[in-house]
Amino acid sequence: MAKDKTTFVCCQCGNDSPKWLGKCPVCGEWNTYEEIVVAKTNSSQKLTGLSNYENQKSKPLLLNNIDSGEEIRINMGDGELNRVLGGGLVPGSLILIGGEPGIGKSTLVMQTVLKLKNYKTLYISGEESARQLKLRAERLGTEHANLYILCETNLEAVFSHINNLKPDLLIVDSIQTIYSERIESSSGSVSQIRESAAAFLKFAKATSIPTLLIGHINKEGSIAGPKVLEHIVDTVLQFEGDQHYMYRILRNIKNRFGSTFELGIYEMRQDGLREVSNPSELLLTQNHEGLSGMAIAAAIEGIRPFLIETQSLVSTAAYGTPQRSATGFDTRRMNMLLAVLEKRAGFKLVQKDVFLNIAGGLHINDPAIDLSVISAILSSSLDIPIEREVCMSGEVGLSGEIRPVNRIEQRIQEAEKLGFNKILIPRNNLKGSDKNNAQIQIIEVKKVEEAFRELFG
Ligand code: TYD
Ligand code: MG
Repeated sequence: MAKDKTTFVCCQCGNDSPKWLGKCPVCGEWNTYEEIVVAKTNSSQKLTGLSNYENQKSKPLLLNNIDSGEEIRINMGDGELNRVLGGGLVPGSLILIGGEPGIGKSTLVMQTVLKLKNYKTLYISGEESARQLKLRAERLGTEHANLYILCETNLEAVFSHINNLKPDLLIVDSIQTIYSERIESSSGSVSQIRESAAAFLKFAKATSIPTLLIGHINKEGSIAGPKVLEHIVDTVLQFEGDQHYMYRILRNIKNRFGSTFELGIYEMRQDGLREVSNPSELLLTQNHEGLSGMAIAAAIEGIRPFLIETQSLVSTAAYGTPQRSATGFDTRRMNMLLAVLEKRAGFKLVQKDVFLNIAGGLHINDPAIDLSVISAILSSSLDIPIEREVCMSGEVGLSGEIRPVNRIEQRIQEAEKLGFNKILIPRNNLKGSDKNNAQIQIIEVKKVEEAFRELFG
């Protein structure tokens, strides 16, 4: 019997190598190479057999003759999901939805397919029993007459069911549970994931049936069997949030059919996920009149502006080494901001514990929230509340300068829309004419000291 051809793949970055390596030359990780079977050796597939290519269906087209007409998109019945996908689901696309266990991936997908009543859907579950899925569907409170559940993890068996059933939409929950008999390693290993994902890709492309894969994210925050899977699929969506909070963000990390800056926000409720079309409501529900340690940032995530609360608590350190902890914000960046505060505002934070939290359990990458982070810390340290009608936006540099941020007009508009009276923005960020048209009072600041004077007098 011909020996199977194998190769070695780095589980971290997906790099291929013909032999095993201790350290990956691409990503620098140790011990990440795993042997995988590429394909059964088949002499008829050898490149020398040129005659194989004579019956090819594909042929070169002149660029000028290609029709660039509107692509058909399937409306998912969910505004947030449609937007994140770049306007709906593209037929024949392979989509990966990644997220930590328990974050709500199965709920999101189940809720979505329940809305697509005209599509004969096959939901392959390798994690939950048919009964559990039924209970979830009941909890979500909608019916679907054409939704089939298949509890199966064997790839070959899955495909034989697909051939019999001929669904219009395929869901695989989760890709890590699927295994192929052709490969010896256990399910969830890189070789199994790669084999199964490649099979679903081939299926999606050959039949134009859109396929959604659900994938778990490991502790480091990457999708298990990470890059390997990301390379294969067309679109990668990441579902994130803090399990103890109700808000969830759906982020697009890779999209062959649209931009990757889109972002969807949901609220997890008893009866499923609710779209949050106005993200600033995350903030507006809270009343923090008279409380110190709160500052409101006009942030932009994806392409949407919203206002978000940064909360801080500064207290005297009980033990020798002060604690520094941030939720929803990079701790290293917070330490940098503390150093700026120490140097520029002369506050002795050495003997203080500092805790920082972004409201709603969201993780914000926008550097423009720096100014609100530093102001919230100072407000807590001084125990002086910041006025409720004030919000701010600005990146803070090492020397305490406040640097311009992108799309400042949108941030100001959002703050104005939500009834704020005053916004602190970086100097020279806004062109002169726009300033005079605004209802909201715009205060331009160049250094953190100026901002502090404005906020705390
Ligand atoms: P689930 O979709 O099973 O997560 P994943 O597939 O990502 O592992 O959702 C898990 C959590 O969501 C679980 O703790 C229960 C909660 N949940 C709700 O709060 N409301 C709901 O309507 C549903 C179906 C689940
Ligand atoms: Mg699940």
